[in-house]
Amino acid sequence: MTTKREKPVLMFDSGIGGLTVLREARVLMPGRRFVYVADDAGFPYGSWEEDRLRAHIVSLFRGLIAEHDPEIAVIACNTASTLVLDDLRAAFPDTPFVGTVPAIKPAAERTRSGLISVLATPGTVKRQYTRNLIGEWASKVHVRLVGSERLAGLAETYMRQGFVDEDAVREEIAPCFIEQEGRRTDIVVLACTHYPFLVNRMRKTAPWPVDWIDPAEAIARRALSLMPEEQGLQAPELPDPDVAIFTSGNPDFATCRLMQGFGLRVEPSPHRLLPT
Ligand code: DGL
Repeated sequence: MTTKREKPVLMFDSGIGGLTVLREARVLMPGRRFVYVADDAGFPYGSWEEDRLRAHIVSLFRGLIAEHDPEIAVIACNTASTLVLDDLRAAFPDTPFVGTVPAIKPAAERTRSGLISVLATPGTVKRQYTRNLIGEWASKVHVRLVGSERLAGLAETYMRQGFVDEDAVREEIAPCFIEQEGRRTDIVVLACTHYPFLVNRMRKTAPWPVDWIDPAEAIARRALSLMPEEQGLQAPELPDPDVAIFTSGNPDFATCRLMQGFGLRVEPSPHRLLPT
């Protein structure tokens, strides 16, 4: 019987947003074991001061890499990736890291109206990394950066409780929509991995139809490309379960049920690390 490879793919986010990337990665890497890590003790990352968040994530990874020895680590979080990718690569040179950064380049290539919006956490919106992406790939289009305080939390509630406040979604996305000299925003980049869970509500509450760009599949493809031996690896008949780790060490019942629904067994976390 083909067995799953020993070394897992480690998938990291501040909460449940990375599940949007996990579901794509599993399709492409059915023979691989996944360890999903949610830093729920640190959620939301959007409002953290940059130096503190950087130190916090690097220190968390010290434990995670020692414990799980991943083949690859996917930072399925824009707020973290736009800040700490270089630090992680420098601190753990033996582990390949794949990041998630705002899909500004494809949006700039696809827009017909020349007006695109990037919907993200307040942290991602103020990063120099994000500004550099705009300078490099979107200097000829108008990019509106929209930092949302509430959407990641709304996605967390929706996925656990099945409830979403549509008026709140409408309010949070409203600044993405601009009209200028007869042209309208035609693309909104979902630059937080939590947001694709709310995209149907966004479509419903948007003032006009736009393309919503979710980079999850592209991130999964990038991860796959760094693991050439993956091709042809089959899922075993009796797989080891994929696991989810919560840094609080204390996910509630609804969270455990959600993880189960994604085929993840919740493990007790030895890396309990509260925000400092
Ligand atoms: N899922 C994270 C991202 O992609 C952010 C959620 C948060 O911690 O605010 O940016």
